[in-house]
Amino acid sequence: MENIYRPKVLEIIEIFKETPDIKTFRLGADISYMPGQFGLYSVFGEGEATFCIASSPTQKGYIECTVKRIGKVTDALHSLDVDDKIGFRGPYGNSFPIDVLKGKNLLFIGGGIGLAPLRSLLLYCLDKREDFGEITLLYGARSVNDLVYKRELEELKEKINLVLTVDPGGEKEGWTGKIGFVPKVLEELSLKAENCFVITCGPPIMIKFVCASLENLGFSEDKIITTLEMKMKCGIGKCGRCNIGKTYVCKDGPVFSLKEIKEMPDEF
Ligand SMILES: Cc1cc2nc3c(=O)[nH]c(=O)nc-3n(C[C@H](O)[C@H](O)[C@H](O)COP(=O)(O)OP(=O)(O)OC[C@H]3O[C@@H](n4cnc5c(N)ncnc54)[C@H](O)[C@@H]3O)c2cc1C
Ligand code: FES
Repeated sequence: MENIYRPKVLEIIEIFKETPDIKTFRLGADISYMPGQFGLYSVFGEGEATFCIASSPTQKGYIECTVKRIGKVTDALHSLDVDDKIGFRGPYGNSFPIDVLKGKNLLFIGGGIGLAPLRSLLLYCLDKREDFGEITLLYGARSVNDLVYKRELEELKEKINLVLTVDPGGEKEGWTGKIGFVPKVLEELSLKAENCFVITCGPPIMIKFVCASLENLGFSEDKIITTLEMKMKCGIGKCGRCNIGKTYVCKDGPVFSLKEIKEMPDEF
């Protein structure tokens, strides 16, 4: 019988240093997945950790994950090199509702490493550009040094409405973006809620204030979509580690609308 916990072995084919504590790993793989899904990545002898798939399924031959160094497994991952091998289980979870988003204007709002799951959908939408309306990305980080995917942000300026911001004090010489917290910058942009879906991911405090700002701007709860990061173990609805009431974030999520999140019990 097949062991559902046995990982595939993938080789690291490229590593991008994003910030002092964040790296993106490109892993050689031919895996079918959709934007929003995640995997359980293992460093042999150290353990497993959950990361979203940050690349787009339109990019063939590899998947990417962007990893912030915060503990045992992420430390071990950061010490690996190109040609080293890691384990991968997945893809798991639901995905962004692409059919619902087709024909709509899209507003992506990301904070810090929260841009990783949004990047998968954003790159997908850019590769299927005619299927979507206007695309805006509002992306903020604590400081210029903490912005991820800097090499791609330059190119994005040509393709979408891009608004970058850093927290007050996080700017440096030559910074041409905005200075201010993401929810405040959001309120300053004259955006129309009509025919627009919002896809957001970032620190919980940012999400809380972004959702409040969006509701002030007239966005309804079912048009605000985010991805949740509950601690996970099995990733497939077996261990009960990630549930909020009856909802298993690993199986029913991690992508939920704000409406669905508000219907969850208060324990979240
Ligand atoms: C669906 C999903 C997608 C994710 N995507 C990404 C991603 O793309 N990139 C990324 O860097 N991280 C992501 N995470 C978070 C990531 O799983 C944890 O940072 C990682 O498991 C930490 O492993 P570790 O062994 O290095 O840390 P540990 O040694 O296990 O823990 C270090 C510290 O971090 C805390 N911690 C661990 N996991 C979490 C968590 N999920 N939420 C809050 N605190 C936690 C621990 O309590 C401890 O204080 C995601 C999590 C989920 C559930
Ligand atoms: S992580 Fe085990 S049930 Fe969700």
